[in-house]
Amino acid sequence: MKIYAHRGACGFYPENTMLAFEMALEAKSDGIELDVQLSKDGHVVIIHDEMVDRTTDGSGRVCDHTLSELQALNAAKNWHGGKAFHPVPSFDEYCAWVAKTALVTNIEIKSSIIYYPELEKKVLETIKAYGLEDRVLISSFNHLSLIETKRLNPSMPCGVLVPESGLVNAGFGVRHFGFEYFHPAYVSLSEEKVAECHAHGIGVNVWTINTMEALENCHRWGCDGIFTNYPEVARAYVDSL
Ligand code: G3P
Ligand code: CA
Repeated sequence: MKIYAHRGACGFYPENTMLAFEMALEAKSDGIELDVQLSKDGHVVIIHDEMVDRTTDGSGRVCDHTLSELQALNAAKNWHGGKAFHPVPSFDEYCAWVAKTALVTNIEIKSSIIYYPELEKKVLETIKAYGLEDRVLISSFNHLSLIETKRLNPSMPCGVLVPESGLVNAGFGVRHFGFEYFHPAYVSLSEEKVAECHAHGIGVNVWTINTMEALENCHRWGCDGIFTNYPEVARAYVDSL
């Protein structure tokens, strides 16, 4: 079962910052999950919300800020009283760093609220530029982004994210539409649903696993991967088995 650090090791470090990614590596994660959007001037940036307000000391929409404006914001404003400065990273900066590691990256395309033209294309171009094709998978709650990803690169693995309400016959559906992974919320999942996905050759990566009970169940059910805010805990558990 692969351990993906959710927004980096965001349980103890500011989410979607290079610090949280570096600490995910330190925690011996297998991979990192992060969220991407486009800046006003068309750069791929790593940030979860469409607004910068919750996670940074700025305000307004991500898409109304240029890359340099985003890089001037403190994405660690909620961490240790905001005393340390950790900017919003560019996807390019992340790829340059991760290329020097063995980490896998799950890139979640945030396109459900704002659809960014060419976000999928720019993400794929950056992946290619850094030679990361064999160490990434793309996921999105907006399945149009997955269709566009497959149109641009049919061999790029894609994970179908679904909300807490879940999805019936997920394994059949995900395979039928040509994708490789199902990314359900833990609350919607069961051993039978994992087995149905596996019967169709579909891998199951589950979000967001932050309790021991959920961790143990995912492992017992044979899930392929989990997203967790606490990769060091998941690593200690998996290594103890
Ligand atoms: O990819 C799993 C998880 O990150 C999806 O939800 O809101 O944390 O991006 P969210
Ligand atoms: Ca995410």
